[in-house]
Amino acid sequence: MRKWNFSAGPAAIPEVVLKEAQAEMLEWKGSGMSVMEMSHRSSDYIDIANRARQDLIDLLNIPSDYQVLFLQGGATLQFSMLPMNFGFKGIADYVLSGSWSKKAINEASKITNINIVASSESSNFDHVPNEETWKCSENSAYLHYVANETIQGNALHAPPSTKAPLIADMSSVILSEPIDVSRFSMIYAGAQKNIGPAGLTICIIKNDFLKDASTDLPGMLQYAKHADAESMFNTPPTFAWYLSGKVFAWLKGQGGLESIGEINNLKAQRLYDFIDESDLYSNPVFEENRSIMNIPFLLADPELDAEFLHDAENAGLLNLKGHRSVGGMRASIYNAVPIEAVDALINFMGDFQSKHG
Ligand SMILES: Cc1ncc(COP(=O)(O)O)c(C=O)c1O
Repeated sequence: MRKWNFSAGPAAIPEVVLKEAQAEMLEWKGSGMSVMEMSHRSSDYIDIANRARQDLIDLLNIPSDYQVLFLQGGATLQFSMLPMNFGFKGIADYVLSGSWSKKAINEASKITNINIVASSESSNFDHVPNEETWKCSENSAYLHYVANETIQGNALHAPPSTKAPLIADMSSVILSEPIDVSRFSMIYAGAQKNIGPAGLTICIIKNDFLKDASTDLPGMLQYAKHADAESMFNTPPTFAWYLSGKVFAWLKGQGGLESIGEINNLKAQRLYDFIDESDLYSNPVFEENRSIMNIPFLLADPELDAEFLHDAENAGLLNLKGHRSVGGMRASIYNAVPIEAVDALINFMGDFQSKHG
């Protein structure tokens, strides 16, 4: 029996998508084979891939002067590919607002010089430093930030105004609500949260920015090579691409990002309101930086953590354990986690509180 899955990633996928994929598993639309068994150069597969790309462009309203790439290596490879392709100016600006920013900075610092424009590390990343305090360099190749820190549950809800080309890791927030893509030179995201199965990474890059990328790299590491080959420089993760296409079609059917954004904000607000009103639970993140996708919370008595997780699992609420680096709990409430799941979690948390109040 399927249960409510609050995993941070790989995360819940809409059940209708899984059912459709199940129905097509052995044979895709009279083709005589599964999508997994198709050549990525076949006309059937090219149609599947193009449809998925176009649906993503429609959903995010991506302007025509951007490349939309379907790559591999996770968001983690982007931490290196990005400075390799664009760090040649000798310095790149980074905001340090959580564990993923830190990893991005560590990788980039092996390749180019890094200027950390602002950091909230000394307060355990309980906020994103205010844009007005950022100390940007004069001639930065780009400014990188993590739009939603999956582990700490903080977010910058609007793109900052910067002189340098703006780049965002949107792994845990892409497709959760509308964004203005035209503000960015590049957006990247690992798939395994709001997009589809792990194994696929989406990169959206402005042509004007891409034209300056380094050509002095192995082909597999050059964005331009992937763009020229329409993401088929080598064999792409065909099944993940196909399944993500189904998720995009599902999202369009839900009314697109305006509609899902309203639902996501409502889900998050409900959970934050409950946490804020309770004596047992707390969330440390500054209100203006609270993530609508990943909601960490602590129990007043950490001795109760194991019992909470045990009882939650028995109640059909899975994967609520916080990241090992921060402890406590975390509810990830991506697009495929419906409001019923959030209500079930709140009910459970209320009962648990009454038992221990
Ligand atoms: C914000 C963010 N960036 C990067 C990553 C790393 O992604 P991957 O494991 O796909 O490399 C994650 C994974 O959870 C993430 O949440």
